Formats: sequence, C-alpha cells, structure tokens
Amino acid sequence: MRVLLVSDLHANWPALEALRVPYDVCLCLGDLVDYGCDPAPVIDWVKRHVYACVRGNHDHMVAQYVTTNGQSGFRYLSGVTRSISQERLEPDQRRFLADLPLTRFLTLGGKRFLLVHATPRDPLDEYASGDVDFWKRRIAGLGVDVVCVGHTHQPYVLQVEGTTIINPGSVGLPRDGDPRLSYAIWEDGQVTLHRLEYDVEQAVRRVHETHLPDLAKEMLAQVLRQGSLHNGSHRPAPPVGSNGSLSR
Ligand SMILES: [Fe+2]
Repeated sequence: MRVLLVSDLHANWPALEALRVPYDVCLCLGDLVDYGCDPAPVIDWVKRHVYACVRGNHDHMVAQYVTTNGQSGFRYLSGVTRSISQERLEPDQRRFLADLPLTRFLTLGGKRFLLVHATPRDPLDEYASGDVDFWKRRIAGLGVDVVCVGHTHQPYVLQVEGTTIINPGSVGLPRDGDPRLSYAIWEDGQVTLHRLEYDVEQAVRRVHETHLPDLAKEMLAQVLRQGSLHNGSHRPAPPVGSNGSLSR
C-alpha cells in the first residue's frame, strides 16, 4: 500500500495542483487555510482526494473566527491573510474545517496510524522538532506503529522505540530554506521524503492580486520564493518561544 502524506497546504492552490503522484491512500495533517489565496479549491481538493484529515491550528482559527494580531513575522502574515480565508470560503467549507477531528486513528496496510497536526499531547499548537527524546515522551502508551504530524513545516522521519514518526513538511509554505513543495510517501513500512518544484510565480501573482498590505505581499513572495522569511528588511520576528503561540 502506497500512502501519500501531505500537510500545511495553506491555501496554495498552484502548489497543490502540481502534486500529481500515484498513491492508494492520501492522508492530510491539517492547516488547509491561511497565508495563501485559494482556500476554497484547496478544501475541495482535500474533500475529493483525502481519505483522512485532521484539523490544524489555522483550520481551527478560521472555523472559529479567531483573529490573530501579530505585529511581525508569521503571526503578522497569519493575521492579515485571515481575512482572505474568511472572505473566500462558503459556509459549508468553513463547517468542513470545524468538523475536522483533532486526532485520527486508523489502520492501513496492517499498521496502526495516528494522525495529528502538532503532537498527541497538544494536537493544535505544540512545536515538535525531529528530536528522538522529545518524541519518546509523546508516544508513550499510544500503541501505534506510525505517528503522522505536520505543523512545523520541517520534514523529518524518526524511528522512536519501534514507532515511526513522519512529518511530511509543507505543501503550501515550506520554511526550511527550500521553496519546493514537500510531501512524504509511506509504502509498506518504508518512508521517503520528497520535494517537487511548482509554479511559485503563479502563487506570488495570486498574492499580488489581493488587497493585502504591500508589506504582507512582499513577505509572502519572499517565503514562497526562498522557503524562508529573513527579517532583514521587515519588522523583526519575535524570538521562538516568546509567546508560546507562534503561528505555523
Ligand atoms: Fe502550518
């Protein structure tokens, strides 16, 4: 069985549209909306193609009309792009986000999977790097073979005491310095991480067609083109952990 894992699509339709790889089952680890300009086609794609999907922090905030008031970095971008998410979704699409489960257990190819956006302890917000000791404490007692997560926009695969931890990275907004979209394949117990080029300039054009402030357009274009947000010409990002709720 070939399982396609995607996460953090972030309303980037040009990226998602480019992802045409064969699979038997597609799983999604959340964050369908915010940052990008096309939340509706991304949600429709997930409805059509994804077998199981969990709710990301951005899905939750859009579904519950939460506002984000960040002054800098990704919190700023999260706040200003929220209006696009709200304006461009139909009520049934917002309901779809609200109905997404926080966690999902399922069995595929004889293996027990757990899907969660962030971590089993804190399904929406906890930041989990690819650290074995961190994950040892998070998977104790779960009784699963594979844990699939997103949220960090950093792809990794770990083996932790017989459990495979997979983070496929981000389709819509990679932040590890590589602007190519990121995904993972689990095939009969073997995991591979993949990067794929897509039409980044189309995504940048979509940003420039919006009513977003010029600063936001410039920052989003930079992340899309470079796979990271350097703060040189922008307002400084808050230090990691300063408020415990950096928008991923
Ligand atoms: Fe995200």
